[in-house]
Amino acid sequence: MDLPSGEPAGRTGTARRTWEWIDQRFGLSALAYPVPQHANALAYTLGGVTLGAFLLLVATGIYLAQLYDPTPTAAHSSIVDITESSFGSLVRSLHFWLSSIFIVTLTLHLLRTFATAAYKAPREGIWLSGTVLFLLAGGLLFTGTILKWDQEAQEAFGHNVEIADLLGIFGFWFSPEFTDSVSLLIRTYVAHVSILPLLLGGVVGVHLLLVKRLKISPLASGTPDEIDRRARDEVQLPFTTHLARIAYWTLLVLGIALVLSALRPAGIGPEGVEGIEITKPPWYFLWLYPLENWFGLDSLVVAPALLVAGLVLLPFLDRSRERDPRRRRSWIALAVLVVLAWAVLTVYGYVTVPVSHVEEMG
Ligand code: HEM
Repeated sequence: MDLPSGEPAGRTGTARRTWEWIDQRFGLSALAYPVPQHANALAYTLGGVTLGAFLLLVATGIYLAQLYDPTPTAAHSSIVDITESSFGSLVRSLHFWLSSIFIVTLTLHLLRTFATAAYKAPREGIWLSGTVLFLLAGGLLFTGTILKWDQEAQEAFGHNVEIADLLGIFGFWFSPEFTDSVSLLIRTYVAHVSILPLLLGGVVGVHLLLVKRLKISPLASGTPDEIDRRARDEVQLPFTTHLARIAYWTLLVLGIALVLSALRPAGIGPEGVEGIEITKPPWYFLWLYPLENWFGLDSLVVAPALLVAGLVLLPFLDRSRERDPRRRRSWIALAVLVVLAWAVLTVYGYVTVPVSHVEEMG
């Protein structure tokens, strides 16, 4: 058990003096500030686990960056080389599976904060910074798909170029014409390993500072008055206990990623051919595939833009004091509809026969 100061109990003599020496210099006991007990439930730890998965992605990504060559003529073969060593293949597979786990825990975290109305006053800023994180995560997944430079990657790349055209002046950075001196693949690589992770790290910092300042939202059960009363009486535990819970779940995530990597190592197809379309996107973008079949390329911009607009507007549209999901039935029904639509589109995208969109891509 920890003392309220964050200092482990039962330390005497040298151990106590060593702790005091370290604490005076690094202020570790400041980490033991009180947080409500309910913050240690798994549902309230998902943001931390998402951060844990992100840090594991950075660690495995740093290793891969030592061996990956982002020039268009060498990118594919450098990945084949990585895959040929058993350690390289393991790290690449871990990076691959962790990226899926990251997007799953991130989405569950979003759904938890939605279900418990954590976006309501005064936490709108936390929700909006979360929406930016959602976009950045999407950017990281998309740029990561392109880097392996096989057929699936070439097709994602082709869509990137087409979407840049569609966005006109706003798409200039994604266009191959932006500069003659550095290929778009190298610029995509720079975005994946530097620009997007740095932005994500910075915005996570803002997100966490806001959570620390505004405190975690109360348990969302009962009328607003009951919720406030329970929050005042709730037991508080040191934040270090919360950190230990996050570390526990993050280790479990690593274990799951290791098992998945052993069972299904990340594959790579033959080098991509430009201008044909025979693959489907990875599972997290599969919901967009039928939409593109039915409504064309525009839907790849319109559908995500509608989703993000909904996330941005939510805290300003739902302004009641109610937090309990049972007392916010229409909002919960709307979210269930969105999740169902996502699931149906994903399954449809999975079973549907691959269709070429190259004509419409010009
Ligand atoms: C890289 C992505 C993200 C990371 C690392 C992250 C991290 C965190 C952490 C550590 C917390 C503290 C409580 C918890 O773990 O549940 C938190 C709270 C919160 N996050 Fe995130 N988050 C991310 C994305 C998002 C997204 C996409 C949204 C929603 C659009 C969001 C909205 C919130 C809200 C509203 C809270 C306050 C929760 C409360 O007071 O109950 N976050 N986030």
